[in-house]
Amino acid sequence: MEKSNVTDEKNTLTNALTPQQIVGELDKYIIGQFEAKRSVAIALRNRARRQMLAEDMQDEVAPKNIIMIGSTGVGKTEIARRLARLVEAPFIKVEASKYTEIGYVGRDVESMIRDLTETAISRVKTEQTEAVEEKAREAAEERLLDYIFPVPRSLQQRPRLQDDALEEPEEEDDDELLQLPFDLGPDPEAEAEEAREKERERYLKTRERFRDWLREGRLEDKPVEINVKHQNMPFVEIFSPGGIEEMDINFKDMFNNILPNQTKKRRVPVSEARTILMQEEAEKLIDMDAVISEAIERVENSGIVFLDEIDKIAGRESRHGPDVSREGVQRDILPIVEGSTVTTKYGAVRTHHILFIAAGAFHVSSPSDLIPELQGRFPIRVELKSLNKSDFKSILTEPKNALVKQYVALLQTEGIDAEITDDAIDEIAALAFQVNESVEDIGARRLHTIMEKLFENLFFDAPDLEKKSITIDAEYVRAELSEIVKDQDLSRYIL
Ligand SMILES: Nc1ncnc2c1ncn2[C@@H]1O[C@H](COP(=O)(O)OP(=O)(O)OP(=O)(O)O)[C@@H](O)[C@H]1O
Ligand SMILES: [Mg+2]
Repeated sequence: MEKSNVTDEKNTLTNALTPQQIVGELDKYIIGQFEAKRSVAIALRNRARRQMLAEDMQDEVAPKNIIMIGSTGVGKTEIARRLARLVEAPFIKVEASKYTEIGYVGRDVESMIRDLTETAISRVKTEQTEAVEEKAREAAEERLLDYIFPVPRSLQQRPRLQDDALEEPEEEDDDELLQLPFDLGPDPEAEAEEAREKERERYLKTRERFRDWLREGRLEDKPVEINVKHQNMPFVEIFSPGGIEEMDINFKDMFNNILPNQTKKRRVPVSEARTILMQEEAEKLIDMDAVISEAIERVENSGIVFLDEIDKIAGRESRHGPDVSREGVQRDILPIVEGSTVTTKYGAVRTHHILFIAAGAFHVSSPSDLIPELQGRFPIRVELKSLNKSDFKSILTEPKNALVKQYVALLQTEGIDAEITDDAIDEIAALAFQVNESVEDIGARRLHTIMEKLFENLFFDAPDLEKKSITIDAEYVRAELSEIVKDQDLSRYIL
């Protein structure tokens, strides 16, 4: 029998969401745009499928990158963002237009992979920090107690004997103290020892009392002086325009290693001290090498780069005169999308299986204005539809934490019950649509400006209102907004 191309060591598919499920999840936040949701769901699932193939085939299967085409405010970024959160993949959104060709001032394209790695590192680090939280809390508590109620000097070291200097320095093992032979008759040394032991017990008892108080939260506001690690990051950032990143790899770490880890005394409330100390303790407990390798593995196998405004770099030299950077940037992006190795300060990161989702309005250019190689790397094209009035209605009310729910909740914090009637929502949607038509189509973003204006007076007066329940109906909406909507010049500025 032939060797199967499927490895089943680790069945990634069982853990991965099905395309149906992905679309279902996206539906909770994004209205319509079914085609786009479907494409990204397929792309994601295919990546999970790839991971199950035998290794030699795995490397052949390239991710199916996507271009989302649609005018502004129709949900392109929103889809990508929700998607990333859904799969908990390392995700970064970058504007293609902010990159410049290598050799020109600006960000070089490889920085997107470095940034992506950075987000993965901090994600994994946060996870690990949570995992060691209990231990870190305990250690921080001990240190905090040391600061609040320091071990008295007399208990810190053994009393010095005359010929002490000649002896080996004695181990400071307190448990051994208890086992010293005490039955040798009155012995000044033993007596001193006994006194010390009493003092020790007293100290520990009080320390425990402080511990109880700490846990009960009775000391939270009390000031305490602690030593905090103080990392100097001198002058590097100032003289490089692109920040440290440009100056490559381990510059920052290098500096941190050269400069001694200085500590600084700070006087802070106990509550803050606990946080600071916990952070320090957590850092000691985390294995940074493991964090780095886990993060890099996630970036390489499930990272998503969202390349926004790709249309802004479309267009070829000939058409746009001396616009050096456009095609140049495309040429620079190409190897990253095709698969190359980018050096980051955490090590090499392979980009071969990173998923790229590009998006753009493509009003003046079209995907065919991209250089052919890049077009080939984005085989999936989906168009997002412009939103109409009924989409607006749904967007206002249906998604989890939809706009209307947000505004109601905000007013609730002031003890005001606001009811927004159906016909009010109709009216808001209609007005938004109207302004988009007459002034400029900014998609669902128009709903934000309209809602903000609609609630302006309420938000201002809310704390002083006598009446604690309010109904917002179509009448109310018209009263607040129709003057502005009718006047194009006014709308241009206000809505
Ligand atoms: N189909 C939709 N369903 C729900 N909310 C939407 C939808 N489209 C847009 N929105 C909302 O409108 C706002 C803008 O959407 P988004 O950022 O996705 O626009 P975009 O398509 O990326 O536009 P641009 O081309 O300007 O970047 C967001 O707050 C988003 O929640
Ligand atoms: Mg966007």
